[in-house]
Amino acid sequence: MQICRTKAELREAVKGFRAQNESVGLVPTMGYLHDGHMTLVRTAKAQNDRVVATIFVNPTQFGDASDLDAYPRDEDRDFALLKAEGVDAVFVPSVAEMYDPNAQTTVETEQLANLLMGALRPGHYKGVCTVVSKLFNIAQADRAYFGEKDYQQLLVVKTMVRDLDMPIEPVGVPTVREVDGLAMSSRNVRLSLEDRQAALILNKALAHGDYEISDEREVDELEAELHRFISREPRAKIETIDVRDAFTLEKPQGKINSPVVILLAARFGDVLLIDQRVCDPS
Ligand code: PAF
Repeated sequence: MQICRTKAELREAVKGFRAQNESVGLVPTMGYLHDGHMTLVRTAKAQNDRVVATIFVNPTQFGDASDLDAYPRDEDRDFALLKAEGVDAVFVPSVAEMYDPNAQTTVETEQLANLLMGALRPGHYKGVCTVVSKLFNIAQADRAYFGEKDYQQLLVVKTMVRDLDMPIEPVGVPTVREVDGLAMSSRNVRLSLEDRQAALILNKALAHGDYEISDEREVDELEAELHRFISREPRAKIETIDVRDAFTLEKPQGKINSPVVILLAARFGDVLLIDQRVCDPS
């Protein structure tokens, strides 16, 4: 596995793959890899000749400096996991390598980026789109892999690719869960034992919501029901509960009669967790 710390090194590695007419799958990550990331890598491997992973804790998508500082990092462990999975190259740039100090250009999906989690974390999806478009430009891959857990991020990236005619196919990969149902996340290691247990309420709420959905339900009623359900767990500090159209993230009017996505965000201690499930009322 080639370890590339500069853009030039990664470009050279990909040029080598391209010279042999090999397709390239890109797996952008912020490191501290878990089985969810490994599923992205395995999917990329199954669909491409070569796989490039990136590890970069992107400062421009963190509103809160303490969240950025607290983000867990373990490069050696990440390298070992990627190597064991047969990744061909990993790009691990420094902040200085990624961002020119005089940078003036950002990328933003105006509407989608400012709804839901975007409203809660202003600038977050602008940071994501900017870094992802830079990674796309540097890696020149055929496909890029993103977890469905951050459903809004996946839609934002797909919209950016469509709107800017980027020559890459974004691929969404289903959420990977621990055996007890907690969605895998690099943040889970920061949960106390009690909060780790309490956080199971999110997946339970998604199952409850899925069960409760029918075309007799109004969105507001379902959101209120989910609020009541999660509030039974005193350690959960609810940030958002949204039931939205699964394709546009607009709030459905009246009764639910087409696929929706339930999007949950809650804090356990100081750790913000998100989870989601697409539900079809039919
Ligand atoms: O989902 C993530 O880990 C990040 O938002 C991404 C896509 C790597 C961009 O920094």
